[in-house]
Amino acid sequence: MTLALLAGAASQLLGARIAETLGIAPLRCETVRFPDGELHVELGDTVRGRDVFIIQATSPAAERHLMELFLIADACRRAGAGHLTAVIPYFGYARQDRRAHGREAVAARLVADLIQTSGVERIVAVDVHTPAIEALAGIPVEHLSAVHSLIEAVQPLCGDATTIVAPDLGATRLAERYGQALGLPIAIVHKTRISGEQVRVSGITGDVRGRSPIIVDDMISTGGTIEAAYHALLEGGCRPELSVVATHGLFVGNAIDRLQSLPLRQVIVSDSVLLPQSEPLPVKVISLRELLSEVIRRLYEQRSLAGLLEHG
Ligand code: R5P
Repeated sequence: MTLALLAGAASQLLGARIAETLGIAPLRCETVRFPDGELHVELGDTVRGRDVFIIQATSPAAERHLMELFLIADACRRAGAGHLTAVIPYFGYARQDRRAHGREAVAARLVADLIQTSGVERIVAVDVHTPAIEALAGIPVEHLSAVHSLIEAVQPLCGDATTIVAPDLGATRLAERYGQALGLPIAIVHKTRISGEQVRVSGITGDVRGRSPIIVDDMISTGGTIEAAYHALLEGGCRPELSVVATHGLFVGNAIDRLQSLPLRQVIVSDSVLLPQSEPLPVKVISLRELLSEVIRRLYEQRSLAGLLEHG
């Protein structure tokens, strides 16, 4: 069975980098939008009997990218792919993993079901917001983490006065990982979400007075969490400087403007999501290219993923 890789619209650049690392040419695949708005996908190369990896972040616009993933998977299945794996560097809808208020959908579960229904047999994903994704999905999920690489990237920013900050309770475990690896204390900001764009902070656990904060999170979406956490840290007496590390940099809405108003030393993100062009922030991008290439290589060769998976 030969290896085949193709990238959807959301992951063209990362897909090309992975293909280059693996020494293969990505499969040709054309997606067009019909006048009524429907997407149409057509493969340009044979996948019959091949071990196919589809790279597609389900990042904004998530509906478009999800639909394209479903259509590519369905096209591969109907064209006789031997095995079908979806490599999803950013797994959208993962924050909707429970009914937090009442009459809501559990979108993370539904999305996982739809991916399976489209013909995907296995998912490879990176730092999914809910680790429960493994339990939510009816197919195997190989859950990877970019945190090891991000820790290396953040090390030069650390000093004696650095404190790692979880901007909400959900990021506590993540902050502990950074804190332990870097030998730094952590603080936890207590956040309540008011709306998609707005959050409120009710307090901080840990001493931040005179400290240089590095906020760690799984994702930056509107930047509201970072902004609110920073203002609370400042009130708590932290130094007026800030670094931020997150696996997924979505930067939606007015995130760039919001973050630009903060005294940012550096924002470190992975390339799970393509950054907006010409964004003016001091961003450092750590590529998932090597990690994802290695996982694809090992899965294709049916070798163990020991040491690569996230069991947090
Ligand atoms: C939420 O629990 C996540 O871990 C992030 O803190 C959140 O999604 C970031 O979103 P935003 O940048 O819009 O505040």
